[in-house]
Amino acid sequence: MGSASRAGAPMIPHQRHLFDIPREVAYLDCAYISPLPTAARVAGEAGMARKSKPWELAPREFFTESEATRGLFASLIGATAEDIAVVPSVSYGIGIAAANVAFRKGQTVVILAEQFPSNVYPWRRLAADREGSVVTVPPSGDGDWAEATIGAIDARTAVVAIPNCLWTDGGLVDLERVSDACRENGAALVVDATQSLGALPLDVGRVQPDFLVSACYKWLLGPYSLGFVYVSPAYHDGRPLEQTWIGRENAEDFAGLVNYRDTFQPGARRFDVGERSNFALMPAAKASLELIAGWGIDRISATLGGFTERIAARARSLGLTCLPGNRRASHFLGIRFPDGMPEGLVGKLSAAGVYVSVRGASMRVTPHLYNDAEDVDRLFDVLESAL
Ligand SMILES: Cc1ncc(COP(=O)(O)O)c(C=O)c1O
Repeated sequence: MGSASRAGAPMIPHQRHLFDIPREVAYLDCAYISPLPTAARVAGEAGMARKSKPWELAPREFFTESEATRGLFASLIGATAEDIAVVPSVSYGIGIAAANVAFRKGQTVVILAEQFPSNVYPWRRLAADREGSVVTVPPSGDGDWAEATIGAIDARTAVVAIPNCLWTDGGLVDLERVSDACRENGAALVVDATQSLGALPLDVGRVQPDFLVSACYKWLLGPYSLGFVYVSPAYHDGRPLEQTWIGRENAEDFAGLVNYRDTFQPGARRFDVGERSNFALMPAAKASLELIAGWGIDRISATLGGFTERIAARARSLGLTCLPGNRRASHFLGIRFPDGMPEGLVGKLSAAGVYVSVRGASMRVTPHLYNDAEDVDRLFDVLESAL
């Protein structure tokens, strides 16, 4: 990554030294699965090792690490720890939303064409169960997803369940505009922010989602099988997917757990997955979120934005296309090939140690702070020879 400044936000110098990426690997696929920072791996290994000595694990430690991590996630999106639940996956988080939104017979759920399935299947189930339907918004000609989504919202809409960055090509959805339309029509807004959170600023105070879910293992640089969901205060009395003991009031008193109670820990904690303490993964997630908080999402976004824009310009000079800067999330690039993708291109790239992924008709190029100009040169060496 460069060290020049752009639009006021100082660039972050490249951070490859914090990861374990061999020089011959050009890993440009954060949208698939990010490499774990070394600090997170060390923290996760230490967490796993604790299970070898359970006599050293005090009951209060079932709460401390997960509470700290909940708070870190909250501060990334302008929320408080009270609004955050720990989940194992996006599917689980969207499941919480689908179990709690109001939905009457004949109502609709608005989704976008080709959005990630974790934010599709729960809505198909709900619509089928309640005799409603799912409305799929096609891509608009000028790439303005917010305008297209708003056009699909009407008095029948119960839920708008969308991403803010399309997982195929980085298409950007202006959530604030969609949120206004949701409120005007009494619809709930449910966001899957997995392909942007950590790399693109998002403030729940401005977006006002009802639920917002993110996995940890992409732009949050954390471990697989852990995520978080923001639950707006209006739903804090809602129905969790599981009836956990650890989500109950006074759960810290292990000796008293036989005094069953129907009251919960405050805020969104009732929605936490069972065994939310997760002694192996939680410390790794905490270390990753600390790294992100230290860099600052504004600076990450500005740095990755400059980096992807340079890649986009080089791709265009080869006759390839990508969404214009105002229509794509700044950290995310989907490159398209007007004459079709050359046969075997992904294989040629991985043979040269260059890792990208193909989703739909796009070749996703999604760098992070561990990438540098040498990685990009390697990508273009293969592209130029294949075209
Ligand atoms: C936008 C988006 N949401 C969610 C996921 C993962 O979902 P889950 O945690 O349900 O496996 C992915 C994985 O690629 C994704 O791209």
